[in-house]
Amino acid sequence: MEDIRILAIESSCDETAAAVVLNGRKALSNVISSQIALHTQYGGVVPELASRMHIEAIDHVIRAALAEADCTFDDIDAIAVTNGPGLVGALLVGVAEAKAIAFALGKPLLGINHIEGHVSANFLEHPDLEPPFLALIVSGGHTNLARVKDYGEFEIIARTRDDAAGEAFDKVARAIGLGYPGGPKIEKAARCGDPTAYPVPRGKVDDNAYDFSFSGMKSAVLNLLNHAEMTGESVRQEDMAASFQAAVVDVLCDRAVRAVKEFGEKKLVLAGGVAANGALRDGLAKALKKVRAELIVPSPVFCTDNAAMIGAATYYHYVKGERSDLSLNAVPGLEL
Ligand code: KG4
Ligand code: ZN
Repeated sequence: MEDIRILAIESSCDETAAAVVLNGRKALSNVISSQIALHTQYGGVVPELASRMHIEAIDHVIRAALAEADCTFDDIDAIAVTNGPGLVGALLVGVAEAKAIAFALGKPLLGINHIEGHVSANFLEHPDLEPPFLALIVSGGHTNLARVKDYGEFEIIARTRDDAAGEAFDKVARAIGLGYPGGPKIEKAARCGDPTAYPVPRGKVDDNAYDFSFSGMKSAVLNLLNHAEMTGESVRQEDMAASFQAAVVDVLCDRAVRAVKEFGEKKLVLAGGVAANGALRDGLAKALKKVRAELIVPSPVFCTDNAAMIGAATYYHYVKGERSDLSLNAVPGLEL
């Protein structure tokens, strides 16, 4: 079969990203312009600023992605873009750019789901990985356990009842004074902390054995902080970070192991920004080994938002002949 090169664009939140992906499996380039330094000043992502920064960065990022892949627009077979879920103003920058390029070049356009992109990041470094498998998606906006039955075909087994895992990391980081972005800062602090120092509940959900609840863990941390303030006790930031992180890891391991047992899948792929967390990767690898299942994870750079994962997801839609037209729009609440 002839080689297919996809130019993928991602601008759903606070990274402006472009990549060229070969046959859905190899990132020929992966350029990411992060806005973290800007949003850190405000303690979180400011949507209007994100959109403006995407507009400023997107042309340079696309040119850099083509150059790094040693390609010109002529070498590209299709243009792919994240069209949801995400921040509407941020998504629109990528969608408008992709439509303009596709129209100007007369090449196919494909709108891609960001969450499917996160899962597909695993195809970039695991050439033999093929559905069916289980996927644990842990990002800033989503926490889902899914059966991936075929390329682009998801059956959601569990979702979060309240906060997403990454959102809980970010809120707890803010509460204990670590700031934005919360996940990496909690992970770093937790390395020097005692995970048994503070009692953080494991967030049981009664009517669906698989669903997640993370806001209870966040509230437990807030209560411990309030109590310490009232009684004049000091709180060890590292211990609190470690105790919270251990609770999140425990719950995710529990669900993963139960799903492996129930559905008989032997592979579980981890996806989304929280997949970069070393404690979660280690915890899951150990837990899955006990039930003779394999954990598959992307390198950290492919866990957090990037465009190579969008290019990987696109390939299988492209070969099936799926195309978007120029009415493609941003859909902030796009479902899997
Ligand atoms: O997937 P992602 O980059 O964006 C969304 O699609 O939401 O995920 C971002 C989330 C943030 O909440 C961030 O705190 C979390 O992923 N995150 C981490 C780590 N790196 C990023 N959480 C825990 N440990 C990390 N090392
Ligand atoms: Zn994401």
